[in-house]
Amino acid sequence: MNLPCRLVKSALACALASACAMAHAATPANTGMHPVAAIQDTETPAQRDARMAWWRAARYGMFIHWGVYSVPAGVWHGKPVDGAGEWIMHDARIPVAEYKQLPAQFDPTQFDARTWVSLARAAGMKYIVITAKHHDGFAMFDSKANAFNIVDATPFKRDPLRALADEAKRQGIKFGVYYSQDQDWTAPGGAAIGGHWDKAQDGDFATYLHTKAIPQIKELLAKYHPAVLWFDTPTREMTPQLAAEIVKLLDRYPQLIWNNRLGGGYPGDTETPEQHIPPQGFPGKDWETCMTINDTWGYKSGDTNFKSTTVLLRNLVDIASKGGNYLLNVGPDSHGVIPAPEAQRLRVIGQWLAVNGESIYGTRPTPFADPHGSYSATRKDANGKPVWVPTWDWRATQRPGKVYIHLLEWPGTSFHLADATIHATGAYLLADPKHAPLKFTQHGTRLDVQLPARPLDPVDTVLVVTTGTRVSIPRQSRGL
Ligand code: GLC
Repeated sequence: MNLPCRLVKSALACALASACAMAHAATPANTGMHPVAAIQDTETPAQRDARMAWWRAARYGMFIHWGVYSVPAGVWHGKPVDGAGEWIMHDARIPVAEYKQLPAQFDPTQFDARTWVSLARAAGMKYIVITAKHHDGFAMFDSKANAFNIVDATPFKRDPLRALADEAKRQGIKFGVYYSQDQDWTAPGGAAIGGHWDKAQDGDFATYLHTKAIPQIKELLAKYHPAVLWFDTPTREMTPQLAAEIVKLLDRYPQLIWNNRLGGGYPGDTETPEQHIPPQGFPGKDWETCMTINDTWGYKSGDTNFKSTTVLLRNLVDIASKGGNYLLNVGPDSHGVIPAPEAQRLRVIGQWLAVNGESIYGTRPTPFADPHGSYSATRKDANGKPVWVPTWDWRATQRPGKVYIHLLEWPGTSFHLADATIHATGAYLLADPKHAPLKFTQHGTRLDVQLPARPLDPVDTVLVVTTGTRVSIPRQSRGL
């Protein structure tokens, strides 16, 4: 029987909301409340800046949801199942014994780490985060701690995480892993949002944590040296004491970056808005919007609702203008192939970045206060709050000496800025190989730049304004 999708989503939203509430309650300023101090509690601001430096500069990463759920691919006993592909066991109430038969059919012989990492690089992505174990409890790595894993339980018998970690290193991009520490629907005692549906799931959460999750987290850290550990869906079962046992392990890796979804009151390093871009970003915090490229994380054969490259690229630009990262998901199929429509979109974005990457990587948020949108008077979100409706006219990013104005809608033959808190010394289009100077006038905070009649790129033509003095960032401005 299917659980109504809305119920699953709201349960999920509650779990995430409580994780966020916990995260906000615990900041480095109130260290005393953590049973074991985490790195965020003890490092200096300068140490934190150094630890986060590569991540902040990266701006764009690849999320990969891949697991044994790619075999049913959203269909169970001939019927399509609502919800995300990786939730099929939960949403179709599949008994543990039945789900455990899936690995026998999982033989992704077309998997090739070099192809995936090359795609991430061609897309302009600077890091990868792959599901090491999702809520179904199936490990996508060679785990000695638990036999329900890709090496021991499938005809494939290979460890894709090993191959990807090695290949990422070879190709010079960062490698990270996602690990579902609370929810585990096939291990006795593992949590399940909304409750268990099979007696085989009954058990003690702490025992599950001690016999499966903690040993596997240890393995991941020791064997693959991930740059990022991405936790998910903390529940009430993750008490501060239990979370502290995990933090003890994380503390051994002083360069590690981990997100705000561990639970137990630990804020982690990064805010993780899911499927949306917060209107103001998270001023003063590191944050990363994770988003699906269609409507599912894990592969679903019937989901072809792919976002256009225009939408995806503008999301990246919008996020960068607010000081965040974009972790864009792909869902490889059971053969080990990233679906062609996903790969194709990523390549197009990569082509834009190859020309315009300077306006994204290592940049700081906009120097301007323009909100580029407004709250809807009529539409409300799941929590009853007005929905933010962005406008897609332009965005800005900056680095010392340069402001990048991303023109998403071509403004005609001139671009006019009313509150230019910059002193312009020159202007050109980033995609113009000659960087031919554009005429401009500035009177006080009024800046006018003359443009050609047509954009160089209809999705985003970047106008570079060089600035004489270091760009001043107003205090109320967004970002870090
Ligand atoms: C949610 C879902 C999960 C997905 C994740 C990505 O928490 O439970 O399936 O992995 O979001 O952010």
